[in-house]
Amino acid sequence: MAYSWFKAFHLIGIVVWFAGLFYLVRLFIYHVEANQEPEPARTILKNQYQIMEKRLYSIITTPGMLVTVAMAIGLLTTEPEVLKEGWLHIKLLFVVLLIGYHHYCRRLMKQLAEDKCAWNGQQLRALNEAPTVMLVVIVLLAVFKNNLPTDITVWGIVALIVAMAATIQLYARKRRLDKEKQTTEMTQVPQQ
Ligand code: HEM
Repeated sequence: MAYSWFKAFHLIGIVVWFAGLFYLVRLFIYHVEANQEPEPARTILKNQYQIMEKRLYSIITTPGMLVTVAMAIGLLTTEPEVLKEGWLHIKLLFVVLLIGYHHYCRRLMKQLAEDKCAWNGQQLRALNEAPTVMLVVIVLLAVFKNNLPTDITVWGIVALIVAMAATIQLYARKRRLDKEKQTTEMTQVPQQ
């Protein structure tokens, strides 16, 4: 019974953690792109994004991570034999990467607050794909365990994810180029 409770809250923690991670980097993108706005909009937007990022990080994202990890420890103490499983070792490797990503987001948040972030909007959009990859790998490992299929199904899923990520990137690039074109047209002095 305890195991099921731990698993239920492990899954709830994961949902909260990932909602936070995805939205956090989306806010970073808006934050960086606010630099293209004229004053006073630029300062107002940047201050607002900074507040939103801090709250999201400390009220949603970090608690989501803590609940996930605490419940995972609960699962492992209830059934310690799981620790011998190969799938769990690989999963833990990706979880370490995910926690590293979480802390890197905190670093980016501080750099943005100090106006020292070297990432542009497009690079941040690409960075936001990293947790998707980790999510897919970790969930597949947790569900299939040592029987993770390596046939056409897996490659089909991988191809689908890559195609989705590429579409998002291309769409964002098109919107950015359209906006740049529009801004250039608006700022051009009409020639008589
Ligand atoms: C702190 C590191 C983690 C540990 C030690 C851990 C450990 C575990 C354990 C022991 C189970 C129960 C397996 C079972 O009874 O079937 C489980 C379930 C699960 N974990 Fe984790 N986990 C961790 C982090 C994560 C993360 C970050 C994710 C998602 C990104 C995740 C996704 C899942 C899923 C989806 C299940 C349910 C699998 C099922 O019932 O079929 N875990 N985890």
